[in-house]
Amino acid sequence: MDERRQEAARWYALCATGALDNGAIYRTELHGAGLVVWRADDGRVNVWEDRCPHRGVRLSLGHHRGDTLQCQYHGWRFASGEGACRAVPAHPQASAPPIHVTTWPAIERYGFVWTCQRADGAATAAFPPVDALAAAQSQGCVPLRTTTIDADLASVKHALSAYVLPHADAAECAAFECESGTLTVESLDGAACSAIFVLQPAQAGKTRVHGVVPGEFDVAQRLALQRAHQARLNAMRDALEAAADLQAASLAKAPEPSHAAGAPSSPVAVTMPLVRMDAARSTTSAAISASGDEGGPFTVHLARSGGSVDVPAHTSLLDALRAHGIEVPTSCEQGVCGTCLTPVLDGEPLHRDVWLDARERAAGDCMLVCVSRSRTPTLTLDL
Ligand code: FES
Repeated sequence: MDERRQEAARWYALCATGALDNGAIYRTELHGAGLVVWRADDGRVNVWEDRCPHRGVRLSLGHHRGDTLQCQYHGWRFASGEGACRAVPAHPQASAPPIHVTTWPAIERYGFVWTCQRADGAATAAFPPVDALAAAQSQGCVPLRTTTIDADLASVKHALSAYVLPHADAAECAAFECESGTLTVESLDGAACSAIFVLQPAQAGKTRVHGVVPGEFDVAQRLALQRAHQARLNAMRDALEAAADLQAASLAKAPEPSHAAGAPSSPVAVTMPLVRMDAARSTTSAAISASGDEGGPFTVHLARSGGSVDVPAHTSLLDALRAHGIEVPTSCEQGVCGTCLTPVLDGEPLHRDVWLDARERAAGDCMLVCVSRSRTPTLTLDL
């Protein structure tokens, strides 16, 4: 099995089971894919692709309806368990269409919800016992707040190997890797001091760190431990993210790659065009946001069709495109379903939808043209 398949075949913790209390619908990511996690009224936990199979809207924006999850766009309901469509409100007399949400195995263990994704459709790997977590659960433990770090799983793992426990010196600690992305950090001098971290590879380049501290503590001790660990995790996160910023800055300063015949390709050569695109965006952005008129008129250049479209202040980009005979597939036309997603080649979109997540907005390389506009005087779209 190649490394990617091995990764997919592992079980990963997605959230603490308490995150699903009172009908909460929890959105998270695994290996860059959005997931919705929810518990039906009969107690069953579901891990599904965060996408309605009807129009692509995020199901995590929907409503908990007992044993179904209801998409907030057209109200289609999907059943706990197999994820089959159960009802379509617009056609109450008709039988539900034979479509399913993409579902993943879900298991509750050691206070977390876990899932395992096998892209090849093979049988799910058995959940391996994680002795450290089992022991922690039997003797009691203090949950730590989940921390999201802008760094990949390998970097976070490496940083945790030098984690310093509260009340212990660095030299006395060691990290041991267990199953399913779990690391225990222990004091080596025999003191009753350890922590267990469970790592979740979330969006590309982001890792979520869940953790528990084994042992029974009174309220004051619990609070002190949680505060101390949070301070250490925050410091680790800041250091990792600062290192990543430094690396990005040094890439930005690297000389332009040579395109001369026979010039060797290198990782720097591959990343440079991206860096230049970001730099171009920020330059135009600075020039334009000076106007401060974010809802004002702008011009769209059409990279594939050629030509340009002026978008007046009170006209939507979609309407302006249609007036020039440019058809974009749409459905909701309210920034909810994602159907009109369009790649942005230059300029900075002004996002006004509820479909893109924070990372996608920050990347600025796509937009929903039904509701979004431009922060810059011009946008170049792949249309
Ligand atoms: S987001 Fe639904 S059509 Fe634009």
